[in-house]
Amino acid sequence: MATTTRMFCFVLVMVLMGCCCSAKIYKVGDSKGWTAKHGTYYDWAKRKEFQVGDSLMFQYDGNVNDVTQVSSRLEYQFCNSLSPKAVYNTGHDVVTLTEPGYHFFITSNHSQCVAGQKLVVLVVHDHPIPPPPPPRKILPFGKDYKVGDSNEWRVPEESDFYSKWSEEKQFHVGDNLLFYYNDQVDDVLEINSDLEFKSCDTTSPVAVHNAGQDLVRLTKPGVRYFITSKTSHCEAGLKLRVEVRPLSKTLPKKMQLSPFDRFINWLHESFRPHPHH
Ligand SMILES: *[C@@H]1O[C@H](CO)[C@@H](O)[C@H](O)[C@H]1NC(C)=O
Repeated sequence: MATTTRMFCFVLVMVLMGCCCSAKIYKVGDSKGWTAKHGTYYDWAKRKEFQVGDSLMFQYDGNVNDVTQVSSRLEYQFCNSLSPKAVYNTGHDVVTLTEPGYHFFITSNHSQCVAGQKLVVLVVHDHPIPPPPPPRKILPFGKDYKVGDSNEWRVPEESDFYSKWSEEKQFHVGDNLLFYYNDQVDDVLEINSDLEFKSCDTTSPVAVHNAGQDLVRLTKPGVRYFITSKTSHCEAGLKLRVEVRPLSKTLPKKMQLSPFDRFINWLHESFRPHPHH
Protein backbone atom coordinates (compact mmCIF):
# COMPACT_ATOMS: atom_id res chain seq x y z
CA MET A 1 0.00 0.00 0.00
CA ALA A 2 2.69 2.45 1.11
CA THR A 3 4.82 1.54 -1.88
CA THR A 4 1.95 2.18 -4.25
CA THR A 5 1.36 5.60 -2.73
CA ARG A 6 5.03 6.48 -2.95
CA MET A 7 5.13 5.28 -6.53
CA PHE A 8 2.13 7.44 -7.32
CA CYS A 9 3.71 10.53 -5.76
CA PHE A 10 6.90 9.92 -7.68
CA VAL A 11 5.03 9.71 -10.98
CA LEU A 12 3.01 12.78 -10.09
CA VAL A 13 6.15 14.80 -9.36
CA MET A 14 7.69 13.68 -12.66
CA VAL A 15 4.57 14.74 -14.53
CA LEU A 16 4.47 18.12 -12.80
CA MET A 17 8.16 18.71 -13.47
CA GLY A 18 7.70 17.78 -17.09
CA CYS A 19 4.83 20.18 -17.41
CA CYS A 20 6.58 23.09 -15.66
CA CYS A 21 10.02 22.84 -17.17
CA SER A 22 8.73 23.42 -20.65
CA ALA A 23 6.41 26.36 -19.86
CA LYS A 24 8.08 29.77 -19.89
CA ILE A 25 7.32 32.95 -18.00
CA TYR A 26 7.95 36.10 -19.98
CA LYS A 27 8.36 39.42 -18.20
CA VAL A 28 6.49 41.84 -20.45
CA GLY A 29 8.80 44.63 -21.63
CA ASP A 30 11.76 43.03 -19.83
CA SER A 31 13.37 45.56 -17.46
CA LYS A 32 11.04 48.37 -18.56
CA GLY A 33 7.98 46.47 -17.39
CA TRP A 34 4.44 47.42 -18.38
CA THR A 35 4.51 51.09 -19.30
CA ALA A 36 3.78 53.48 -22.17
CA LYS A 37 6.43 53.55 -24.87
CA HIS A 38 5.43 53.61 -28.49
CA GLY A 39 6.20 50.42 -30.37
CA THR A 40 7.91 48.80 -27.39
CA TYR A 41 5.61 45.84 -27.04
CA TYR A 42 5.37 45.20 -30.73
CA ASP A 43 9.15 44.76 -30.91
CA TRP A 44 9.21 42.87 -27.65
CA ALA A 45 6.66 40.29 -28.79
CA LYS A 46 7.85 40.01 -32.38
CA ARG A 47 10.78 37.65 -31.93
CA LYS A 48 9.12 35.38 -29.39
CA GLU A 49 7.12 32.27 -29.94
CA PHE A 50 4.52 31.94 -27.24
CA GLN A 51 3.12 28.53 -26.57
CA VAL A 52 0.10 27.26 -24.71
CA GLY A 53 1.08 27.03 -21.03
CA ASP A 54 3.51 29.95 -21.10
CA SER A 55 2.82 32.95 -18.87
CA LEU A 56 3.17 36.70 -19.15
CA MET A 57 4.29 38.66 -16.12
CA PHE A 58 3.19 42.29 -15.96
CA GLN A 59 5.05 44.60 -13.59
CA TYR A 60 3.76 48.17 -13.17
CA ASP A 61 2.46 50.87 -10.82
CA GLY A 62 -1.00 49.65 -9.85
CA ASN A 63 -2.13 53.18 -8.94
CA VAL A 64 -2.13 54.46 -12.50
CA ASN A 65 -2.38 51.32 -14.62
CA ASP A 66 -3.81 47.86 -14.92
CA VAL A 67 -3.78 44.98 -17.35
CA THR A 68 -7.02 44.75 -19.26
CA GLN A 69 -7.41 41.77 -21.50
CA VAL A 70 -9.77 42.41 -24.41
CA SER A 71 -11.30 39.99 -26.88
CA SER A 72 -10.79 41.60 -30.26
CA ARG A 73 -8.21 43.33 -32.39
CA LEU A 74 -10.59 46.26 -32.77
CA GLU A 75 -10.79 46.87 -29.03
CA TYR A 76 -7.02 46.55 -28.93
CA GLN A 77 -6.54 49.02 -31.77
CA PHE A 78 -8.91 51.60 -30.33
CA CYS A 79 -7.90 51.10 -26.68
CA ASN A 80 -11.46 50.19 -25.83
CA SER A 81 -11.58 48.75 -22.31
CA LEU A 82 -15.35 48.90 -21.87
CA SER A 83 -16.03 45.17 -22.11
CA PRO A 84 -12.88 43.43 -20.96
CA LYS A 85 -12.35 39.71 -20.95
CA ALA A 86 -10.33 40.04 -17.73
CA VAL A 87 -8.78 42.77 -15.60
CA TYR A 88 -5.66 42.41 -13.47
CA ASN A 89 -4.55 45.20 -11.18
CA THR A 90 -2.16 44.06 -8.48
CA GLY A 91 0.87 45.65 -10.17
CA HIS A 92 2.48 42.24 -10.42
CA ASP A 93 0.27 39.94 -12.45
CA VAL A 94 1.04 36.61 -13.98
CA VAL A 95 -1.31 35.66 -16.80
CA THR A 96 -1.11 32.13 -18.15
CA LEU A 97 -1.83 31.68 -21.83
CA THR A 98 -4.19 28.74 -21.79
CA GLU A 99 -5.39 28.67 -25.38
CA PRO A 100 -3.92 29.17 -28.84
CA GLY A 101 -4.69 32.23 -30.93
CA TYR A 102 -4.35 35.94 -30.37
CA HIS A 103 -4.38 37.48 -26.91
CA PHE A 104 -4.84 41.22 -26.60
CA PHE A 105 -3.78 43.27 -23.57
CA ILE A 106 -4.24 46.99 -23.03
CA THR A 107 -4.35 49.30 -20.02
CA SER A 108 -7.64 50.92 -19.08
CA ASN A 109 -5.66 54.17 -18.63
CA HIS A 110 -6.67 55.45 -22.04
CA SER A 111 -3.93 58.04 -22.60
CA GLN A 112 -1.31 55.48 -21.65
CA CYS A 113 -2.80 52.91 -24.00
CA VAL A 114 -2.87 55.38 -26.88
CA ALA A 115 0.78 56.12 -26.12
CA GLY A 116 1.59 52.49 -26.81
CA GLN A 117 0.90 50.51 -23.67
CA LYS A 118 -0.71 47.57 -25.38
CA LEU A 119 0.37 44.12 -26.32
CA VAL A 120 -0.80 41.47 -28.72
CA VAL A 121 0.67 37.97 -28.59
CA LEU A 122 0.06 35.04 -30.86
CA VAL A 123 0.01 31.77 -28.96
CA VAL A 124 0.58 28.45 -30.68
CA HIS A 125 0.21 24.88 -29.54
CA ASP A 126 3.05 23.48 -27.60
CA HIS A 127 5.50 21.69 -29.89
CA PRO A 128 6.82 18.62 -28.11
CA ILE A 129 10.49 18.15 -28.97
CA PRO A 130 10.13 14.65 -30.42
CA PRO A 131 7.41 15.07 -33.08
CA PRO A 132 4.00 13.53 -32.33
CA PRO A 133 3.86 9.71 -32.43
CA PRO A 134 3.72 8.24 -35.94
CA PRO A 135 0.20 6.77 -36.20
CA ARG A 136 -1.47 10.13 -36.78
CA LYS A 137 -4.87 9.01 -37.92
CA ILE A 138 -6.80 11.72 -36.18
CA LEU A 139 -5.58 15.29 -35.96
CA PRO A 140 -7.66 16.72 -33.13
CA PHE A 141 -5.82 20.06 -33.00
CA GLY A 142 -4.11 20.17 -36.36
CA LYS A 143 -0.53 21.18 -36.86
CA ASP A 144 1.02 24.64 -36.79
CA TYR A 145 3.31 25.41 -39.69
CA LYS A 146 5.64 28.38 -39.48
CA VAL A 147 5.64 29.57 -43.08
CA GLY A 148 9.17 29.48 -44.56
CA ASP A 149 10.60 28.13 -41.29
CA SER A 150 13.66 30.26 -40.42
CA ASN A 151 13.30 32.43 -43.53
CA GLU A 152 9.83 33.34 -42.27
CA TRP A 153 7.76 35.42 -44.75
CA ARG A 154 10.30 37.48 -46.63
CA VAL A 155 11.73 37.59 -50.17
CA PRO A 156 13.59 34.30 -50.50
CA GLU A 157 17.00 33.83 -52.09
CA GLU A 158 15.62 31.22 -54.47
CA SER A 159 12.41 32.22 -56.18
CA ASP A 160 10.96 28.71 -55.82
CA PHE A 161 11.65 28.59 -52.08
CA TYR A 162 8.00 28.72 -50.96
CA SER A 163 6.77 26.29 -53.58
CA LYS A 164 9.37 23.78 -52.40
CA TRP A 165 8.51 24.53 -48.79
CA SER A 166 4.86 23.84 -49.47
CA GLU A 167 5.35 20.82 -51.71
CA GLU A 168 7.30 18.84 -49.16
CA LYS A 169 4.47 19.11 -46.64
CA GLN A 170 1.00 17.69 -46.34
CA PHE A 171 -1.49 20.20 -45.10
CA HIS A 172 -4.78 19.03 -43.69
CA VAL A 173 -7.98 20.63 -42.61
CA GLY A 174 -7.45 21.87 -39.06
CA ASP A 175 -3.81 22.87 -39.55
CA ASN A 176 -2.65 26.45 -39.08
CA LEU A 177 -0.25 28.59 -41.07
CA LEU A 178 1.76 31.09 -39.05
CA PHE A 179 3.17 34.01 -40.96
CA TYR A 180 5.96 35.95 -39.26
CA TYR A 181 7.32 39.02 -41.06
CA ASN A 182 8.25 42.67 -40.85
CA ASP A 183 4.93 44.49 -41.19
CA GLN A 184 6.73 47.63 -42.37
CA VAL A 185 7.87 45.73 -45.46
CA ASP A 186 5.37 43.02 -46.33
CA ASP A 187 1.91 41.74 -45.61
CA VAL A 188 -0.12 38.67 -46.46
CA LEU A 189 -2.88 38.85 -49.04
CA GLU A 190 -5.01 35.84 -49.65
CA ILE A 191 -6.24 35.59 -53.21
CA ASN A 192 -8.63 33.27 -54.97
CA SER A 193 -7.22 31.99 -58.20
CA ASP A 194 -4.22 30.42 -59.82
CA LEU A 195 -4.22 33.20 -62.42
CA GLU A 196 -3.97 35.94 -59.78
CA PHE A 197 -1.27 33.90 -58.08
CA LYS A 198 0.81 33.53 -61.23
CA SER A 199 0.55 37.20 -62.14
CA CYS A 200 0.93 38.53 -58.56
CA ASP A 201 -2.39 40.28 -58.96
CA THR A 202 -3.18 42.17 -55.76
CA THR A 203 -6.37 43.86 -56.92
CA SER A 204 -8.99 41.56 -55.39
CA PRO A 205 -7.75 39.87 -52.24
CA VAL A 206 -10.19 37.79 -50.23
CA ALA A 207 -8.34 38.53 -46.98
CA VAL A 208 -5.58 40.88 -45.86
CA HIS A 209 -3.30 40.26 -42.89
CA ASN A 210 -0.78 42.83 -41.75
CA ALA A 211 -0.04 42.34 -38.06
CA GLY A 212 3.45 40.95 -38.62
CA GLN A 213 2.42 37.68 -36.99
CA ASP A 214 -0.69 36.16 -38.46
CA LEU A 215 -2.40 32.88 -37.96
CA VAL A 216 -4.40 31.47 -40.85
CA ARG A 217 -6.56 28.44 -40.22
CA LEU A 218 -7.04 25.88 -42.94
CA THR A 219 -10.70 25.15 -42.51
CA LYS A 220 -11.63 23.28 -45.66
CA PRO A 221 -10.00 21.19 -48.35
CA GLY A 222 -8.79 22.85 -51.53
CA VAL A 223 -6.07 25.16 -52.72
CA ARG A 224 -5.24 28.45 -51.00
CA TYR A 225 -3.03 31.20 -52.34
CA PHE A 226 -1.08 33.83 -50.41
CA ILE A 227 1.03 36.67 -51.80
CA THR A 228 2.43 39.97 -50.57
CA SER A 229 0.98 43.24 -51.79
CA LYS A 230 4.51 44.32 -52.80
CA THR A 231 4.40 43.17 -56.42
CA SER A 232 8.17 43.14 -56.88
CA HIS A 233 8.53 40.92 -53.79
CA CYS A 234 5.81 38.61 -55.03
CA GLU A 235 7.51 38.33 -58.41
CA ALA A 236 10.75 37.50 -56.62
CA GLY A 237 9.05 34.51 -55.03
CA LEU A 238 7.24 35.76 -51.93
CA LYS A 239 4.09 33.77 -52.70
CA LEU A 240 2.67 30.60 -51.27
CA ARG A 241 0.32 28.01 -52.67
CA VAL A 242 -1.02 25.48 -50.23
CA GLU A 243 -3.00 22.37 -51.03
CA VAL A 244 -5.23 21.50 -48.11
CA ARG A 245 -6.22 17.87 -47.87
CA PRO A 246 -9.35 16.64 -46.16
CA LEU A 247 -9.06 15.01 -42.78
CA SER A 248 -8.79 11.47 -43.97
CA LYS A 249 -6.88 8.32 -43.33
CA THR A 250 -6.14 7.55 -46.97
CA LEU A 251 -2.52 7.95 -47.88
CA PRO A 252 -1.35 10.57 -50.32
CA LYS A 253 -0.90 8.21 -53.32
CA LYS A 254 -4.23 9.22 -54.78
CA MET A 255 -3.59 12.90 -54.23
CA GLN A 256 -0.42 12.86 -56.27
CA LEU A 257 -0.58 14.22 -59.78
CA SER A 258 -0.93 11.78 -62.63
CA PRO A 259 1.75 11.92 -65.36
CA PHE A 260 -0.77 13.66 -67.59
CA ASP A 261 -1.50 16.36 -64.99
CA ARG A 262 2.22 16.83 -64.51
CA PHE A 263 2.66 17.28 -68.25
CA ILE A 264 -0.12 19.89 -68.32
CA ASN A 265 1.51 21.71 -65.40
CA TRP A 266 4.83 21.61 -67.17
CA LEU A 267 3.25 23.14 -70.28
CA HIS A 268 1.69 25.80 -68.10
CA GLU A 269 4.95 26.66 -66.39
CA SER A 270 7.05 26.62 -69.53
CA PHE A 271 4.89 28.80 -71.70
CA ARG A 272 3.46 31.31 -69.31
CA PRO A 273 4.24 34.94 -70.16
CA HIS A 274 7.06 36.45 -68.12
CA PRO A 275 6.48 39.87 -66.62
CA HIS A 276 8.43 42.69 -68.26
CA HIS A 277 10.09 45.41 -66.26
C1 LIG B 1 -2.83 57.51 -16.42
O1 LIG B 1 -1.43 57.49 -16.43
C2 LIG B 1 -0.82 58.75 -16.20
C3 LIG B 1 0.68 58.60 -16.36
O2 LIG B 1 1.20 57.61 -15.56
C4 LIG B 1 -1.21 59.25 -14.79
O3 LIG B 1 -0.64 60.52 -14.57
C5 LIG B 1 -2.72 59.32 -14.70
O4 LIG B 1 -3.11 59.65 -13.39
C6 LIG B 1 -3.34 57.97 -15.08
N1 LIG B 1 -4.79 58.07 -15.10
C7 LIG B 1 -5.56 57.31 -14.37
C8 LIG B 1 -7.04 57.51 -14.56
O5 LIG B 1 -5.14 56.48 -13.60
